[in-house]
Amino acid sequence: MPDALLDRIAAAADLQELDSVRVALLGKSGEITAKLKSLGAMDPDARAAEAPKIHAEREAVTNAIAERKAALEAAELERRLATETIDLSLPATESVNGSVHPVSQVMDELAEIFADLGFSVAEGPEIETQWYNFTALNMPENHPARAMQDTFYLQPRTPDEEPRVLRTHTSPVQIRSMQEHGAPIYAIAPGRVYRSDSDATHTPMFHQVEGLVIDKGIHLGHLKWTLETFLKAFFEREDIVLRLRPSYFPFTEPSVEVDVGFAVVSGPDGKSRRVLGGSGDAPGHGWMELLGSGMVNRKVIEFGGLDPDEWQGFAFGIGVDRLAMLKYGMDDLRAFFDGDQRWLSHYGFSALDVPTLSAGVGTPA
Ligand code: DAH
Repeated sequence: MPDALLDRIAAAADLQELDSVRVALLGKSGEITAKLKSLGAMDPDARAAEAPKIHAEREAVTNAIAERKAALEAAELERRLATETIDLSLPATESVNGSVHPVSQVMDELAEIFADLGFSVAEGPEIETQWYNFTALNMPENHPARAMQDTFYLQPRTPDEEPRVLRTHTSPVQIRSMQEHGAPIYAIAPGRVYRSDSDATHTPMFHQVEGLVIDKGIHLGHLKWTLETFLKAFFEREDIVLRLRPSYFPFTEPSVEVDVGFAVVSGPDGKSRRVLGGSGDAPGHGWMELLGSGMVNRKVIEFGGLDPDEWQGFAFGIGVDRLAMLKYGMDDLRAFFDGDQRWLSHYGFSALDVPTLSAGVGTPA
């Protein structure tokens, strides 16, 4: 083994130089490669004599290169450890965290509260057939209530396709739930709904939560208790008082509109605010309309494929965005959907503040 070769390896000052030496010796047209190739041209005796030497040489060179490489790498690490420093006194780079939108937060709160009452969460499509959105909810074609919920109509893709709309409410999930699961049913259905409306309190897309109970012997008392229990848990106040007013919805009979009592209080900025709680009839108080509900119409139960003589139930529908505004104090609905980072970081929730009943459903512990 000629020491000259090993000297060249030892003399390589850095990894790059070492690699050139490796290529010069072991590469395709390297010196040792050439020797290995020359074995092929030798007669058997010469080959038997030379081969072990050449192979030994190649092994020695390979080992020497590996050793040198390890030594150079260790020296490089030592150099970096000695020269590079981390300044712990510098301010940390800020990482931008997303936040949970108040609408998502409120939907999680609703799911948590109703899960505790034994309700599951149901879903339906946002592009809905007119049959589910209107007809099966006892709004036949030409029924005036269809115009009250004016919406976005989709062009049929084929002449005989059933006409479809962006759903105007979450109520069609009532029919889908009955068809899919039969009875009994205890379900809520939160989701997006659409109407051609736009001002400070109406956006073309908004959110509702539907509630549906179908069982035997269900009456208005069950509806009132459920709404009261839900609203007390949601607003985290024991003094929530409800007022039920007769109303009309095609899909319920009887229908009730539910108001909640509030007090007018003046805040530190001198502006007066409405705070939910107490009877709306008390001095300085008032009633605010909160949701629509009623006993599910017999026809709707039939459209859902059930026998209305056997099964009864109640249903309700609430605006989720409105619940969020009332609970968390926003006053312009349009800001909900503008995507302004400042609004989101002010009103958003930490992803880790998962709503739980034991911790107060909306207040981070
Ligand atoms: N679907 C109604 C709307 O969007 C709200 C509603 C009222 C839902 C009464 C119900 C109900 O389930 O019983 O205006």
